[in-house]
Amino acid sequence: MTRRIPAVRILATGGTIAGAAPSPRDTSGYQAGALPVDALLAALPPMDDVRVDARQLFSLDSKDALPGFWQALAREAALALTDPAVDGVVLTHGTDTMEETAWFLHLTLAPAKPLVITGAMRPATATSADGPMNLLQAVQVAACPHAARQGVIAVLNGQIHHARHLRKAHTHRVDAFDSGEAGPVGFVQDGYAGWLSPPRRTTPRFAPETPLAPVDILFDYPGISAAMVDAALRGGARGLVWAGYGNGSVSGRIEPLLREAHGRGLAIVRASRTGAGRVGVPDPGGFPQAAGLDPYKARIALMLALGAGTPPAALQALFDTLSYE
Ligand code: SIN
Repeated sequence: MTRRIPAVRILATGGTIAGAAPSPRDTSGYQAGALPVDALLAALPPMDDVRVDARQLFSLDSKDALPGFWQALAREAALALTDPAVDGVVLTHGTDTMEETAWFLHLTLAPAKPLVITGAMRPATATSADGPMNLLQAVQVAACPHAARQGVIAVLNGQIHHARHLRKAHTHRVDAFDSGEAGPVGFVQDGYAGWLSPPRRTTPRFAPETPLAPVDILFDYPGISAAMVDAALRGGARGLVWAGYGNGSVSGRIEPLLREAHGRGLAIVRASRTGAGRVGVPDPGGFPQAAGLDPYKARIALMLALGAGTPPAALQALFDTLSYE
């Protein structure tokens, strides 16, 4: 009996992995998303153990990815995942907002097949660009049956990160990504994917077409202007993630303003600006806490929750649940 060769579909969206600079010496000062996906494929070695086809969906610098982009990408990824001819999907994406896109896809899709996101820190034209190896390893992981039921994962620099913990933690190093205290869920080397945590059974928390409510993030800092809260309200925000000090605490001057804004219908969730740990101190005024979610992930969860009509009383349970995904 002949073994069926797995088929992986690459959906390209731009980013530094498709970036082009004037000189191979340049690792900054390039145009992201300049090269077509065929050029990325041309940099890969021949593969006889996986069949690859590719589609160019966008050619974006991911700093310009808006929430509508997440929804469009979720639709395309869902289509690819339901194609019986496809065993796994790889998304190429800019690294700057990769963590947001991966988290949105994790919340809105329940991939029963591998869904892997990758990118690069150096443009494709750079000497020793990291994109080709990242793409090769992302394809190898997407072809691995064990990657199914992991939810959305990212493959970068030989590591596999889960969307729940993925974060860009450095401005330019090729090992810019990590998973904080949780650590990576696996690694990949020479085509072998090793798993450091058991498969996660995922169910989508929200439909991909859920309307996204406008939600802002405000970071606390000594001397913060009271006008910031007002600006969020006047800008039409329905929700606000407060990236507070330490355990999510709020500058004393600002707290009454938040209570007042809350009274006027602004949903407020307390997170922490520290970058790690859980916001676990009960809030006497009743603001839900982001639990273990960082402000960026809490914001996307709140955008979806408000868009889906989640009642305020159910928000804390939602954040607690998402925190442990
Ligand atoms: C981007 O996010 O599209 C540009 C930066 C990068 O991919 O590293």
